[in-house]
Amino acid sequence: MNISQQNQPVTNEVGTSLSPREQMNIVIAGHVDHGKSTIIGRLLADTDSLPKGKLEHIRQNCRRNSKPFEYAFLLDALKDEQAQGITIDSARVFFKTGKRNYIIIDAPGHIEFLKNMVTGASRAEAALLVIGAEEGVRENSRRHGYMLSLLGIRQVAVLVNKMDLVGYRREVYEAVCREYRQFLREIHMTAQFVPVSGMGGDNIAAQNDQMPWYDGPTVLGVLDGFVKEMRPVDKPFRMPVQDVYKFTEQGDKRRIIAGTIETGRLRVGDEVVFYPSGKTSRVSTIEAYNRPRQDEAQAGQATAFTLEKQIYIARGEIAALAGQVSPSVSTRLRVNLFWMGRQPMVKGKEYLIKVGTAKEKAFLEEVLSVMDASDLNATQKKDRIEHHDVAECVISTRRAIVFDLAEEIAATGRFVIVDNCEICGGGIIREAVADEQLWMREKLIQRNANWAVSSIAREDRAQRYSQKAALVLITGQQDTGKKPLARALEIQLFSEGRFVYFLGIGNVLYGVDADIKEPGANGHRSEHLRRLAEVANILLDTGVILIVTATDLTASELEWMRAAIDRYPIQVVRMGPQATDIPNDLVITGLDETANAVLAVKRMLQRDGIIFTP
Ligand code: GTP
Ligand code: MG
Repeated sequence: MNISQQNQPVTNEVGTSLSPREQMNIVIAGHVDHGKSTIIGRLLADTDSLPKGKLEHIRQNCRRNSKPFEYAFLLDALKDEQAQGITIDSARVFFKTGKRNYIIIDAPGHIEFLKNMVTGASRAEAALLVIGAEEGVRENSRRHGYMLSLLGIRQVAVLVNKMDLVGYRREVYEAVCREYRQFLREIHMTAQFVPVSGMGGDNIAAQNDQMPWYDGPTVLGVLDGFVKEMRPVDKPFRMPVQDVYKFTEQGDKRRIIAGTIETGRLRVGDEVVFYPSGKTSRVSTIEAYNRPRQDEAQAGQATAFTLEKQIYIARGEIAALAGQVSPSVSTRLRVNLFWMGRQPMVKGKEYLIKVGTAKEKAFLEEVLSVMDASDLNATQKKDRIEHHDVAECVISTRRAIVFDLAEEIAATGRFVIVDNCEICGGGIIREAVADEQLWMREKLIQRNANWAVSSIAREDRAQRYSQKAALVLITGQQDTGKKPLARALEIQLFSEGRFVYFLGIGNVLYGVDADIKEPGANGHRSEHLRRLAEVANILLDTGVILIVTATDLTASELEWMRAAIDRYPIQVVRMGPQATDIPNDLVITGLDETANAVLAVKRMLQRDGIIFTP
């Protein structure tokens, strides 16, 4: 577990230095052999970042083996050394300037690079893209540029390398710039350009006389000119809820909310808002593992806190702070996705999406553009995403999920897609696409924020009534005997001493819904459902087993009801043939006698622990 000490400066990822110097992650990309390694080697040599004697040692080795010295060898030699260490992985190189420390991520291939970026193993804030002047723009020059745009990396410098091979001629440089700028424009990117020679060291760390026509910054100058992203602690507070623990002592109703703080800080007394539910409470204590209690916790720390008001929170929600920018909540997300699955990602198939600690059922709704590995220049429309494709698409989820836009908060702005227990894809979230449930969700968040939590705990009511509050939702097509079953079930359960109520739909339609014109007209269906769910939610809070009938309820309507009634189970009983996509806990065919149907529902309630005694 990642526990950092209080009062210590945020340790930098490398662990090479305890100083609180600024650090920036840079990715270097470009077509094969265009000179990435050479440029990195130069940067290391020219900033005195090499171990003592390293350069000379390698030069000697080259002489001994009579092969020409290459700056790229430096990198290989370093990588071999670093690979034996444990703190540093082989694809990263470190150096510093007067301004800050840099980590250069030399992406060995675009797939590894993307994998790292989307799974969060590394996150680059800026990129160097190398194009060899004599070969010019090649397929990977474009492909990597496109990936940078997909990954939301906005600070890019294009290094036009090997200028020595083209006689340092300005026209060659400008032709490459023109061609690549045109491409960048197509993908809505911009970049600055520097003519360099990695081999000769021109414009790497120092200006050179060979290109008097160029008066822009050197590569080092460009790096130091990149703007640092805000420190995670200075961003809005986000903590994906990992677990909710109960205190073990008798009568202690408090819950501990545990997780790792991704961004921002949390203090005792802060008003926390949990999304997607919108429930709020104040931080009562901040608990810590193996540490004394503290008043504050911040980004990077594994933390747990208790609340003043006991609200019901589940794993997967994201804790944010009132008064700060809130995360997005939607069932539709526009994303940039990288697909690693052997099977293509297709429409109509159910996947799992993971964001933060949340896991939800997800579907490919629309493919906006795809770039495939074999056809590099074209981004064409397809309706599936193949192995190693990079796509922009819309993903929809059954239940609303909470997330941030990747450009704002990377940690809660990226996702992975799981198929058959395997990670098959991942990417970053670019936009929360409006969905039909938006207005309902906003009302729900309002309601949850203002909900007066009862002083009598749910468990105490359950004990009093020897049952758990639950909604028995009887659905199916019209005239399948839903209402007779509901009535018979109510009578039966009541006669057995249960606290039970059948809420007839008319009771709601002509009462709570009286202000809605044309009761029952389809245009108002979602508002009717919303109100039904609200009434049911209040009744369930009293501890009752509530029976409700609803015609042709769909899976997404059910998910919406679950979001509105999130503290209590909904048991779905379907009468007659399957007419919608709704999942069920019990099916009753039209042929069953009512008495048998009642018995079947009772067994289901026992099976699922709603009623305790046989
Ligand atoms: P991969 O990692 O294989 O994709 O290649 P790379 O982009 O890291 O290229 P690398 O730095 O290994 O350089 C490839 C070849 O180009 C080497 O033989 C270098 O010596 C040569 N090279 C790199 N930069 C320059 C340069 O500025 N001028 C000249 N003349 N050759 C260069
Ligand atoms: Mg290389």
